[in-house]
Amino acid sequence: MSKMHLKLKVNGKSVETLCEPRELLIHVLRERLNLTGPHIGCETSHCGACTVDMNGMSVKSCTVFAAQVQGAEITTIEGLAGPDGMGVLQTSFREHHGLQCGYCTPGMITRAHRLLQENPNPTEEEVRFGMAGNLCRCTGYQNIVKAILHAASELNASKEAAQ
Ligand code: FES
Ligand code: FES
Repeated sequence: MSKMHLKLKVNGKSVETLCEPRELLIHVLRERLNLTGPHIGCETSHCGACTVDMNGMSVKSCTVFAAQVQGAEITTIEGLAGPDGMGVLQTSFREHHGLQCGYCTPGMITRAHRLLQENPNPTEEEVRFGMAGNLCRCTGYQNIVKAILHAASELNASKEAAQ
C-alpha cells in the first residue's frame, strides 16, 4: 500500500512522518514518533490505556487511523508535564497512590486532564462517570478518583490565586 505524508502537531510541535493511511494512531505515536507514553492494552477500544487528546477531545488512539489525523493537534502524556517536571495531575496521582503497576496511568492522566478542562470542579460521581472508559486492574479506582479530585482543587486554587 502506498504511504501517506502525515503532518500533525504533537505536544505543541509540528511533526511529519510517512505511514500507511490504515496505521493506527497509537502505532504512529509509539513506533514512528517514538512517543511511548501512551500504552497499548487491548487494541479493541475497551481499556483506555492508549488515550490521547485529539483536537480538544479524548480519543482512544487504537481506534483512530492515520488518515484521520492529518493536520490534527495531539497531546500525549509527554505533553502534560509541568515546567518543573511533573504536572499537577501527575503529582497528585503519585501523592494519592493513584497507581500501582502504572500501565493504565498515562491514559488515565490524559483523560483526567481533558475531564478537568471540560468540568474544572467535578463531583466524585462526575469523575467516576467521566473516567468510565479507562480501566485499571490494580487500584480499585478509589485513589485514582481521590487524585483527580485533589488535582481539581489544586488547579482551581492556583487559578484563584492568579486572579
Ligand atoms: S489499547 Fe486502545 S482502548 Fe485499549
Ligand atoms: S495501575 Fe496497574 S492497571 Fe492501573
